[in-house]
Amino acid sequence: MSKTIIKMQNISKIYDNGIVANDNAFIEICEGEIHALAGENGAGKSTLMKILYGLEKPTSGKIFFNDVEVKINSPLTANNLGIGMVHQHFMLVNELSVAENILLGQEITKNLLLDRKSTIKLVNKISKEFGMEINAEEIVENLSIVQKQKVEILKALARDARIIILDEPTAVLTPQETQEFFAQLKLLKKQGYTIIIITHKLNEIKQICDRITIMRNGKYVGMYDVDKISEEEISRKMVGRDVVRKIDKELSSPGKAVLKIENLNKIALNGKPILNNISFECRKSEIVCLCGVEGNGQRELVNIVTGFDKDYNGNVQINDINIIKKNIKQIRDMGETHIPEDRTNFGVDLLSNISENLISTSLDDICKCGFIDKTKVESISKESIKDYQIKCEDSMQKVKMLSGGNMQKVVIARETRKTPAILVANQPTRGVDIGAIEFIHRKIVELRNQGTAILLISSDLSEVFSLADRILVFYSGDIVAEIDDVDNISEEELGLYMLGIKRMNNKVKYE
Ligand SMILES: Nc1ncnc2c1ncn2[C@@H]1O[C@H](COP(=O)(O)OP(=O)(O)OP(=O)(O)O)[C@@H](O)[C@H]1O
Ligand SMILES: [Mg+2]
Repeated sequence: MSKTIIKMQNISKIYDNGIVANDNAFIEICEGEIHALAGENGAGKSTLMKILYGLEKPTSGKIFFNDVEVKINSPLTANNLGIGMVHQHFMLVNELSVAENILLGQEITKNLLLDRKSTIKLVNKISKEFGMEINAEEIVENLSIVQKQKVEILKALARDARIIILDEPTAVLTPQETQEFFAQLKLLKKQGYTIIIITHKLNEIKQICDRITIMRNGKYVGMYDVDKISEEEISRKMVGRDVVRKIDKELSSPGKAVLKIENLNKIALNGKPILNNISFECRKSEIVCLCGVEGNGQRELVNIVTGFDKDYNGNVQINDINIIKKNIKQIRDMGETHIPEDRTNFGVDLLSNISENLISTSLDDICKCGFIDKTKVESISKESIKDYQIKCEDSMQKVKMLSGGNMQKVVIARETRKTPAILVANQPTRGVDIGAIEFIHRKIVELRNQGTAILLISSDLSEVFSLADRILVFYSGDIVAEIDDVDNISEEELGLYMLGIKRMNNKVKYE
């Protein structure tokens, strides 16, 4: 193994509210390796990497760079050391071009004005050099997710980063896109770059990483050569028990249609069709999975079904009642619950505490003669925190202070507590650790068995295969394939439908 480039020793981080996010953590990175950082939700991975990138200050501990102790007080210091970070949620300016985004903050100017020509030339040169070809003049808004990812990495590379930290980079990619992305990472590795990747996906760790550091409860568990540790061992070390990866479920026996969509059309403001005469049903005791690359109409469909968007043509019914005139609350009262994709903006109120978030949609239940029944609130909170293993101090903790995965657990606990008529679950396990995925999958199947109709939107194919009774593939606002026999389709074939390369001709039409 080559020489150690970074060593973080005895790193502790206690946030202002007293939460210990890192407790004597340790990580050692060798030059030129791809190093995975894994651990349960709330284990302290993002915190450790934010400390390395100068976004958070450690309470105690030392960082060594090429065996010399360094203080990294800001991302600028990190940049100067050659450290770059790509956050899970892209930080690009949608309205600007690729080139402008890549050189943001270090623009090339001529007479105080942006020198467009030189900027584009430089970006083209950088992207060629790294084998990440991209149209430098394209506006970022028009890019696919994988292209945006490229821009983020090029942004780091343009700042001369030699060590690149990636916080859950593949959460939103299709299998093909993930492979393309990995090919780029391998190329960077070949050129001597060092990569640290945070991920919950064990197969990815096996595929491209050299070593893995596992954290638990803010502490260092161990560092292993990836080819000497199995996926099962990794998950055991992360969670402290065996994890069931694909849960058993009986064949579904669907009942009547709970959600019925007929001839649904939606046109974007720019006149482009987003949903093209979509028709399908989701029945009682059935998990229907909408699968597709992001941006192919799934999001718009969810917005319509959950009452956020009324600007469409067609018929959308829940239990035979048209929802066009129903607002979000009325739709919830009809028995629909919703796990939104964007949990921080729509799933939780960040400034409220866990209890308030858990009960916010069931006030009718917990009010007695106009007063909130505190005992009931407490018991709901305790039960949810225990069942979903929400890592927190207590139920009074503000949701803003939770790790990404734990915020998601609060939403899921709230939306699945009672048996809804229909659950719209949009990327329900994105960013959630393997132990919690097992729990959430069991919960979804349990709800299905109790009669809930489940509309699952997921870009995680192992989730799709684990849960779906039926798959509908979305491409460019169309349903291009309907798969009833989920056990007999390969990931590769599904990927071809998702990319619009293949299409089923005999799509089922509903009466
Ligand atoms: N700004 C903050 N203020 C207070 N506590 C925080 C803050 N950010 C994170 N925490 C807490 O620190 C702990 C570690 O969080 P961190 O985000 O590092 O976890 P993680 O391993 O990245 O988890 P995930 O897989 O869910 O992203 C959690 O208990 C979290 O609640
Ligand atoms: Mg994190």
